[in-house]
Amino acid sequence: MQFPRCFLGGIAMVFAGVFAPLGAGETPALTYDNFESPQRCTACHKEIVQEWRQSLMAQAYTHPWDEQEYFKLALPHALKDAKVAEVKAGCIGCHSPLAFLTGDIPPQRVAAGTRANEGVSCDVCHSITGTTEEEPFNFSYITEVDGSKTGRYPDAKSSRHGIKVTEFLGSPKLCAICHDEQSPYGAWVKETYREWKAGPYAKEGVRCQDCHMYHAPGKAALGGKERPRVARHTFHGSHTPSKLAGSVDLALYADRTTAEPGEDIVVRAVLFNGKTGHYIPSGSTEERMLWLEVTAAGPDAAARVIPVEPKGFPGEEYTIADGSILAYQDMGAIMEIENFKGISRDGDVPKGCRIFRRPFFDPQGRMTICQWNTVKNTAIDYRIGPRETKIERYAIAVPTDAAAGELTVRARLLYSQIPTSLGRFLQLPAEESAPITVNEAVIVIAIEK
Ligand code: HEC
Ligand code: HEC
Ligand code: HEC
Ligand code: HEC
Ligand code: HEC
Repeated sequence: MQFPRCFLGGIAMVFAGVFAPLGAGETPALTYDNFESPQRCTACHKEIVQEWRQSLMAQAYTHPWDEQEYFKLALPHALKDAKVAEVKAGCIGCHSPLAFLTGDIPPQRVAAGTRANEGVSCDVCHSITGTTEEEPFNFSYITEVDGSKTGRYPDAKSSRHGIKVTEFLGSPKLCAICHDEQSPYGAWVKETYREWKAGPYAKEGVRCQDCHMYHAPGKAALGGKERPRVARHTFHGSHTPSKLAGSVDLALYADRTTAEPGEDIVVRAVLFNGKTGHYIPSGSTEERMLWLEVTAAGPDAAARVIPVEPKGFPGEEYTIADGSILAYQDMGAIMEIENFKGISRDGDVPKGCRIFRRPFFDPQGRMTICQWNTVKNTAIDYRIGPRETKIERYAIAVPTDAAAGELTVRARLLYSQIPTSLGRFLQLPAEESAPITVNEAVIVIAIEK
């Protein structure tokens, strides 16, 4: 187990050549004035600025759930538990790199309107020239702050700023700096890059940039050259329903086309992750759920949820929904709530549904959504890997008094950023936990008497 490199992260090179590593308690050499705000790029990069503003990376500090988690949970926890003290600055290293690099820790709340609100801005990515790690994680960026922007076109010229061509800009390692994270306990609590690296897309040379930044003919700047593949800055992910939709194929098969009352029908649901370059869910897997809801409705009966058939692997109980089970008890001590028993583990996911997830466990062995308080998260991993297929089985008993007609079996694959129970507990906007449809399938069986 490697000690997390939180405080080795964020090395800044000021005015090309002067090396200024940031140490704990040291006065940083940089101020916000060393970085330009995205507003200043609008005149010439209008569309790129518009795209970026709508992306989650522009909201990495201001997005309501991020603000709540930092100020209600992580910061108070860091101030009372020495083991996790480093996250006071650590969260900010990825969510507001300018605040981190300028030593504005903790930054002011969002309402104060400081430049911490800029999140992962243009100048963050376009100042990074490398990483201190072979395989990056935990904001291990090396930034060169000299007014010029990193780019990929040797023939690009701008009257407004210098351009330095770096291969690093086009490398998935740039993304790994923030998309892979190790907890203070050494657990890999985000590993989208490592999942990608071990999967088929890395071998085929398909980068993060190829799936999350679309490329199209046009100009990258007003006054720039016409180019065949300009990189657009949409960065769509799970917060964009159209990106999520259809990312997993879903097909249903029944072992018969007709059935009689009293018979059992066996239905198989086949799920194929053909579009994500990593597991689904990926990223903040401590709180993400993907679940399959299978219902059956007869000609004379309302739709009822059919529970998945267990496969019998260790820890499987965490992957079968049961809203009555309590979890996330560590929030009680952090938020100083006496006799806190926890909140529903699975929120409103109907009982018996298969959940594709990876549970995280705190030092007391309880399930947690506090990724920084995670000791273990590898024992149970029932997510769907890139190009992996998973098959689930359902047994449907046709009632002995069923009327003749059609039995409709419907499968819905749904996704949520956080359990509804957590959204209500922390009073987050409803859209943070609202289920998003990934796919649907229907199969009809004739009931004959
Ligand atoms: C006065 C106009 C202007 C402004 C303002 C401006 N740029 Fe540019 N920028 C350009 C031009 C022109 C190019 C060259 C485009 C080309 O040739 O394709 C360019 C290119 C770039 C490139 C790509 C270089 C490459 O080789 O890939 C980056 C990155 C960039 N600018 C970032 C920024 C950022 C960040 C800001 C705001 C802080 C900004 N620019 C403000 C005009 C501008
Ligand atoms: C999360 C990191 C990130 C952020 C934030 C970001 N960029 Fe980029 N930018 C990139 C990457 C990566 C590329 C090159 C893409 C590739 O290799 O296909 C790029 C390319 C560019 C280019 C050249 C276009 C091309 O075809 O390569 C311009 C211009 C640019 N960015 C401007 C901006 C501006 C302006 C902003 C802020 C509104 C911004 N970038 C924010 C990562 C970022
Ligand atoms: C400086 C840190 C940093 C770098 C570098 C970075 N990201 Fe991010 N990224 C973040 C943070 C923080 C979030 C989460 C924002 C939130 O949910 O508040 C995020 C979110 C995202 C999302 C999620 C969008 C969604 O809808 O859920 C995508 C996709 C993404 N980044 C792609 C990339 C790609 C591709 C690269 C490399 C070209 C990259 N990022 C580089 C910090 C970074
Ligand atoms: C083959 C295309 C592909 C590649 C390559 C790819 N992604 Fe994705 N990614 C997707 C799709 C599709 C989604 C939406 C479904 C989902 O949320 O998993 C997604 C979702 C995400 C999310 C949101 C995850 C969540 O559940 O909150 C992040 C963050 C992300 N990608 C980052 C990356 C990074 C970083 C890389 C490179 C290491 C990368 N992606 C490579 C296709 C790709
Ligand atoms: C190594 C970089 C890194 C560190 C350190 C980090 N984060 Fe994040 N965080 C990310 C990225 C990247 C995502 C987006 C992943 C995804 O889309 O699934 C994210 C997502 C989140 C989300 C989820 C947003 C959503 O829409 O569901 C919250 C909340 C959050 N982070 C808070 C924190 C807090 C609090 C800390 C400190 C304890 C922290 N982060 C530390 C990179 C980081």
